[in-house]
Amino acid sequence: MKPGAVGGVGRRAALSAGAALSVAGLSGESAATELPLRERARRKGLLFGAAARSFNLRDDPAYAAAFARECGVLVTEWEAKWGPLRPTREEFSFGAVDALWQFARRHGLGFRGHALVWHEHMPRWIAGMENRAARGILEEHIRRVLARYPRAQSWDVVNEAIDLKDGRADGLRQTVWLRALGPTYVRDAFVLARAADPHTLLTYNDYGIEYEDRDSRAKRVAVLRLLESLRQQDAPVDVFGVQAHLNPARPFDPAALRGFLRGAAEMGFDIYITELDVHDRDLPADGARRDRIVADHAQAWLEAALSEPRVKAVFTWGLSDRYNWRNEVEWSRRRDGLPSRGLPLDQDLQPKPFWTAIARTLDGAEPRGR
Ligand code: G3I
Repeated sequence: MKPGAVGGVGRRAALSAGAALSVAGLSGESAATELPLRERARRKGLLFGAAARSFNLRDDPAYAAAFARECGVLVTEWEAKWGPLRPTREEFSFGAVDALWQFARRHGLGFRGHALVWHEHMPRWIAGMENRAARGILEEHIRRVLARYPRAQSWDVVNEAIDLKDGRADGLRQTVWLRALGPTYVRDAFVLARAADPHTLLTYNDYGIEYEDRDSRAKRVAVLRLLESLRQQDAPVDVFGVQAHLNPARPFDPAALRGFLRGAAEMGFDIYITELDVHDRDLPADGARRDRIVADHAQAWLEAALSEPRVKAVFTWGLSDRYNWRNEVEWSRRRDGLPSRGLPLDQDLQPKPFWTAIARTLDGAEPRGR
């Protein structure tokens, strides 16, 4: 795809779409929808944004307009991962990420890259990578990607490095990078990213740490230990990313969440809520009931998270039910076949109670120091 081919809507068009949004706002929803989430966040020194795929923005001008209106940051949901980006050892397939970058630049959005190091969706050729070549391959990847998108708002440098099921004392997930480079690969990736771009904020991102069940509690301990060890290794990590794929069926304790986030904040990390959405697979089929449960749970969780002053950003993992990854994966897809309603805008790009829940938590948040 030619860079710049995505969503040719200008800011004016986005705002006029926004005006339509305020007129067509939900009946009974008190939060006036004329003030987009990005503005509500900005007023508190926070960031709001969402993950996107280039082809959705390219092929759907109304969606592109809603995205440009609501979001202050664009997150690369798929196309900056190794699988789509690195078809061969020699090739970098930048076209789709270029289009996302151009969209962000055209609409004045921050650009958040995801993810420089992850274990999933790696290209087949990586399996044949010799250990002695791994550092050079990683260094070239990070250097070339960050050079192409200079001064990005932030990057997920390492994503989901902890998996206690793999049985290591340090909790590290058995990945191709751990096997090739040893446990210091996490630190190494951050050092390489900082060398490649001294300006972008560097994030360690993980999931399964949002609730009070045994697994979540155990993973929190391991994640905090990893963050502490990165601090001790002087790894240039700026931000801890909490993915926040929420599930109303799981046990939530606001005080415990606040304590966990405080633990990371006291190590000197800012915190981002990086992939907020709600798993509604097992919720009632009725849309209004489901929307209420999604919104109430998200509001309670976000209020607890945003009560931590070092939480500086909220990014949802998609903006509208019209394009929701949950409808594409078997384990998350609803058994009744109804589409997920776990994102802020509905299939018609209208704000749902979830949108209002985010608006209220942003409006109620304490202003952040600049
Ligand atoms: O774009 C291609 C399309 O050309 C092709 O025809 C189609 C059929 O294979 O695949 C399309 O790519 C899909 C892509 O999403 C874009 O829709 C991939 O198959 C699919 O695997 C990919 O799934 C992504 C998934 O991560 C795996 O990378 C989801 O979009 C994305 O939302 C999801 O995001 C992850 C985060 O990276 C990490 N945290 C969890 C989160 C949810 O699983």
